[in-house]
Amino acid sequence: MTVTVLDSRQIMPRVFQDGAYKLAMGLNRLELDDWLWCTEHYAAEIAHKRHLLDQGADIVAELPEAAPAVAETLALIEAHLARFAPQLLPGATAPPLIRAGLLVQEDLCLMAPSTDGYRLVAAFLAFPARWRLADKIGQPMRAIHTPVPGFAERLGATADRFFGAIAVERPVWRANWSILDDPELHQPEAKRRYQRIEVTPENAGERLWLRVERQTLRRLPETGMVLFTIHTFVRPLADIAADPRAAQALADRLDEMPAAMLAYKNMAGLKPAVQAYLRGQV
Ligand code: HEM
Repeated sequence: MTVTVLDSRQIMPRVFQDGAYKLAMGLNRLELDDWLWCTEHYAAEIAHKRHLLDQGADIVAELPEAAPAVAETLALIEAHLARFAPQLLPGATAPPLIRAGLLVQEDLCLMAPSTDGYRLVAAFLAFPARWRLADKIGQPMRAIHTPVPGFAERLGATADRFFGAIAVERPVWRANWSILDDPELHQPEAKRRYQRIEVTPENAGERLWLRVERQTLRRLPETGMVLFTIHTFVRPLADIAADPRAAQALADRLDEMPAAMLAYKNMAGLKPAVQAYLRGQV
């Protein structure tokens, strides 16, 4: 059997064309066969993860209680790859969480129930979008999302209920997106450097990138913990502008986004230039 390599341009989730922006759970049903994605960037992204580990980057954390779920995660990933991409399964001796993280492009976060809602008990997080694993490990969903405007009031209770209700046989996926000034996948620095560059309608296509995260959630059948995966896609804004419908949709979503969310995503200052650029192309 050969590896099925997906073309990231075709599968990057189309996050703007689903109607007006709203802060929502945004969950879609997921077929387990479609759980993890292997794209043309597989080799480069695994090498990137290895390099970060070699450098001692803070990308792995595991609380003692997570050990059985980490082992279960590794077994599930190996079983998935054995079906869809057996060549990707080298023999390895690293600890289970590192083996699991180095097998897939996705980042991996394990969530365990607690009296305070589901909390993060282990993660292999090579490609964070401006958050630090050390700040979030051990924290429940609400604390993790404290910086997200509206999360506690609008989504917190729903998210807690939803996590309790995820059924083993009914995994889900969702996506989120932002526009960044740096295509680097590993961005643990909190909202730094941002908008240091002068963005104009003339240079926005080359100076900015669209970053989309495809996230999946599934309950592990043995330990009952919830595994959250994040597959990150980055494309120059010029690629989005080349598709008139996508360009129009993205410009419209920026109009609909509340000011607090634009500020949180560091997009308030970029909005005029980005919209002028996108609308100039359509
Ligand atoms: C149904 C589940 C979830 C929903 C609806 C949700 C929703 C969101 C939203 C709306 C944002 C703002 C980001 C943006 O739009 O660009 C966000 C950020 C974030 N989410 Fe989630 N999320 C979910 C699950 C998780 C899980 C399981 C984790 C576990 C690690 C997580 C970690 C984060 C982090 C670290 C941030 C950035 C917070 C910061 O700026 O410090 N999310 N999430």
